[in-house]
Amino acid sequence: MTDALPIDAPLLPYRAMRVDELIPSARNARTHSDAQVAQIAASIREFGFNNPVLVDGQRGVIAGHGRLLAARKLGMTQVPVIELSHLSPTQRRAYMLADNRLALSAGWDDDLLRVELGDLRADGFDLELTGFDAAELDGLFGDDGTGAPTGATRGEDDAADDLPPPRPPVARVGDLWRLGGHALLCGDSTDPAAVARLLGGERASLLITSPPYAQQRDYASGGIGDWDALMQGVFGAIEGHLTDAAQLLVNLGLVHRDGEWQPYWSGWLDWMRGRGWRRFGLYTWDQGPGLPGDWNGRLAPSFELVFHFNRQSRRPNKIIPCTWAGHVNSEKGGLRGKDGTVGEWTHAGQGVQEFRIPDNVLRITRHKARGIETEHPAVFPVALPAFLMQAYADAGALVYEPFSGAGTTILAGERTGCRVAAMELAPGYVDLAIARWQALHPDQPVTLADGRSHAEVAAERGELADAA
Ligand SMILES: C[S@@+](CC[C@H](N)C(=O)[O-])C[C@H]1O[C@@H](n2cnc3c(N)ncnc32)[C@H](O)[C@@H]1O
Repeated sequence: MTDALPIDAPLLPYRAMRVDELIPSARNARTHSDAQVAQIAASIREFGFNNPVLVDGQRGVIAGHGRLLAARKLGMTQVPVIELSHLSPTQRRAYMLADNRLALSAGWDDDLLRVELGDLRADGFDLELTGFDAAELDGLFGDDGTGAPTGATRGEDDAADDLPPPRPPVARVGDLWRLGGHALLCGDSTDPAAVARLLGGERASLLITSPPYAQQRDYASGGIGDWDALMQGVFGAIEGHLTDAAQLLVNLGLVHRDGEWQPYWSGWLDWMRGRGWRRFGLYTWDQGPGLPGDWNGRLAPSFELVFHFNRQSRRPNKIIPCTWAGHVNSEKGGLRGKDGTVGEWTHAGQGVQEFRIPDNVLRITRHKARGIETEHPAVFPVALPAFLMQAYADAGALVYEPFSGAGTTILAGERTGCRVAAMELAPGYVDLAIARWQALHPDQPVTLADGRSHAEVAAERGELADAA
């Protein structure tokens, strides 16, 4: 047994020593692969040499062999050292092990870790500089391809989905709110009774939504099977509430797990077909430049999908202005044939139409959210549902949104002249949707189904909460 150092002994100063003066220990049992030394070197480059090498009184290294190798690799000439000359030879040998081994006994709070790494990734930081390798990051995130950590995404939309609802809820499950001409029910869209209450006997001609991508923590508990159950519940509950010519537009993003992207939608697609919903169209949502950051070897994500189902075809609205609008097609000037001759216009003598149908690549920049909508981790830009409404709704159409989130589809309905009936399970997100609506449309009333204003309900429920 050796004497312990007094707990209030003066702190040991560090000083600089030349790298070529330091002598690695022949007894160091800790190993450092080339790859790990390269990792340490990258970390020193990024953060600096912040962890001094521990040496004995004779330039011998006690701890910090990996850092020293990395310093050499980087061509550093000197490093900070702390001299532990107070240690006996036995203590030095023991500490050489303890310094390495004690750190290994620490654990990780996986939820916090996911949030921290997710934030760093969102800031464009190269996560491998933290020492976590691609496989570990893949395992942690189950990368959904949206840049937001999901613990599953989300995707897109993602550990951010683990955030608590954004504000103390005024809304409660069962509330049916009226936002101007739109309706928002705090309820479960797999519940046929809730859907019937929300739509009140009217049939929607359009369904626009963005469900959770694959399984996500708050919504389903244990895997893709649960996601199928959620989707079957939602799309089973709409029967009888849509017009025969209804169009369904469902946005989903990629999810990666076990080093592969997952076709998690395939079981649900088969189920939809079995119910008569044709896989009518498949569109790409081009979100603009890929998110910055390291994507575990994949290219930076910059697209998602929109699945289009129907039981009857419907022509899209012509909403894209034509470059040659007003131009009359001459008899010449068609496409050049293989033999080099220029053919006639198919519609020679006719004017080029003013508007055309949209492309199946939706070029809508990903939301650069700044406002309170960021309180929802998976909010999409108002322009996305607005575009889908413009493409497939008639004026005043009723649109059903079963996964309302921050109420984006409601805002799109207001922008495009459609009425939206939306459902959201989380009271906090219902409050967020109401707050967004009130910020944009302060002149339009928000009332509960019984006629009370939002302000009255908030005051009443706030008092009840204070009294409790
Ligand atoms: C991907 S987010 C939709 C975000 C929305 N597009 C927006 O822009 O804010 C999915 C939302 O569906 C909600 N949700 C999940 N399961 C639900 C259910 N069974 N019924 C109603 N809402 C549900 C979640 O609370 C979440 O807010």
